[in-house]
Amino acid sequence: MLIGRAELMRKRIAMAAGVALAMVVSGCAQESGEAEVEAATAEPVSLEISEASFGCIQDMTAVRGFFVSSLTGDLDATVAVANAEEGVYPVGSVVQLVPTEAMVKREAGFSDVSHDWEFFELGVSPEGTTIDVRGTSEAVNRFGGNCLTCHLQAEPQYDLICEQTHGCDPIPVTPVMARAIQKTDPRCEPMELTDEETQALQALAAFAVGDPDEE
Ligand code: HEC
Repeated sequence: MLIGRAELMRKRIAMAAGVALAMVVSGCAQESGEAEVEAATAEPVSLEISEASFGCIQDMTAVRGFFVSSLTGDLDATVAVANAEEGVYPVGSVVQLVPTEAMVKREAGFSDVSHDWEFFELGVSPEGTTIDVRGTSEAVNRFGGNCLTCHLQAEPQYDLICEQTHGCDPIPVTPVMARAIQKTDPRCEPMELTDEETQALQALAAFAVGDPDEE
């Protein structure tokens, strides 16, 4: 037993991910004998998601107005679906519009109702990230809005990704506001804002103050 536990776990996860990918790519048809045995015995990919899974939004990959990353190291597969604008995101995909909200594609079978997405409401500061809320059907954002209720409105081909045209109830965050919020993630290096973005942030602040019922 020369391999430590953590090392073994890492290998297992890598193997399971590799097998899953091979199965997708080959349509399960022609596996080598070894892979076949592994496919039969491998445990499903298991994601450990913690505060450390999240960081400066600008370090993620920008696709149209939002950002993606991968917790399994297969960023290309995640970006491919994001660029295609439709299709099912691979396990481990992280999608974010703003620093404080994230969707992570969990293991197959994690949740039928949420199409295996887990929703996160995050606290962000220069010190890092905290996970304030996580879950599927019960997860709500800081305004009390239920993540799943809105995101389920996306037409089926979009895998619960709303953007502006996929059928979800709109949010009061315009694309300019979103860009300004993305540029002021406190976990990132400071970025230059355009005048338009500065005004958008001021409008957002007024909006937040204007409604005492909302936190
Ligand atoms: C009122 C409906 C509503 C609620 C509630 C809501 N969202 Fe969204 N969300 C949207 C819409 C609409 C967009 C697209 C906005 C855009 O692109 O301009 C979006 C965008 C996103 C995106 C970027 C990918 C995409 O779907 O376009 C993520 C990630 C996200 N929301 C996560 C969450 C999480 C996590 C929660 C709960 C903590 C949440 N949302 C709550 C409507 C909602």
